[in-house]
Amino acid sequence: MKLIDGNKIAQSIIESLTKEVSKINGPKPTVAFIRVGEDPASVSYVRKKQKTAENIGIQSLLKILPDSISQEELIEEIEAFNDDSNVHGILIQAPLPDHISETTIFNTVKPEKDVDGFHTLNIGKLCQEDPSGFVACTPAGIVELIKHSKIQTEGKHVVVLGRSQIVGKPAALLMIQKGLPGNATVTICHSKTQNLEVITKQADLIIAAIGRPNFVSEAMVKEGASIIDVGINRIPDSSKKSGFRLVGDVDFEAVSKKCDHITPVPGGVGPMTVAMLMQNTLNAYKNQR
Ligand code: GUN
Repeated sequence: MKLIDGNKIAQSIIESLTKEVSKINGPKPTVAFIRVGEDPASVSYVRKKQKTAENIGIQSLLKILPDSISQEELIEEIEAFNDDSNVHGILIQAPLPDHISETTIFNTVKPEKDVDGFHTLNIGKLCQEDPSGFVACTPAGIVELIKHSKIQTEGKHVVVLGRSQIVGKPAALLMIQKGLPGNATVTICHSKTQNLEVITKQADLIIAAIGRPNFVSEAMVKEGASIIDVGINRIPDSSKKSGFRLVGDVDFEAVSKKCDHITPVPGGVGPMTVAMLMQNTLNAYKNQR
């Protein structure tokens, strides 16, 4: 079993971004975060993203809005950042309250400032394999992990668990792209999939993004398969100061014994998402200069 060290790979990306940003004279790249409500995971993710931006020399702004905000008011806040030429990237932390349409909100962000890659135009560009678009940070981070770990995807069977807009669908699109990593045969499974275990057992690479703690068991994995675990699930744990611990979608203890490469949780995909956001922000800045 080879452990994929997401922290180390993310750190090397962050170091190269830091060098690049230090050479910029004049106004620095700037990313604006919008957080709606006080969901503890969202608070923690946005804090981590801001801290990493600061370490790199990327400026960040944070607008915290109440859960009660209307969709129209939220749109106005986004438009203010769209119109601000000092802001190069905009990120609205998901999930949003139920009365707000995430699709509408993500499509309000100017595509050239859409560092999350959630705008319809950027998703369309991903479908068309047009590299001028932004790719969502988690799927982009997964590709980097696969590249760094030299996991083969050409002609291999990649099984993606989960069909979310943020991870499952774009990850599947990246795996079928012409090129490397890519050129894979991809199956997307979801909550209505029948005979799931029969499918996952055929996988050379499993990308698990379903948000169910320890869901992928030893019996679901072929000997020698590789595993990318996207899940970040909070499990109550009274022995921790925070009152919880993080576990992935994969039963790491059992599955790691029989697989080739595997990502840990935490320290696998999570840090890569943040690193790719920083890369997207620097690219957005360059495109707008
Ligand atoms: N919520 C969970 N992952 C993400 C992400 O990558 N971007 C945003 N904006 N919200 C998220």
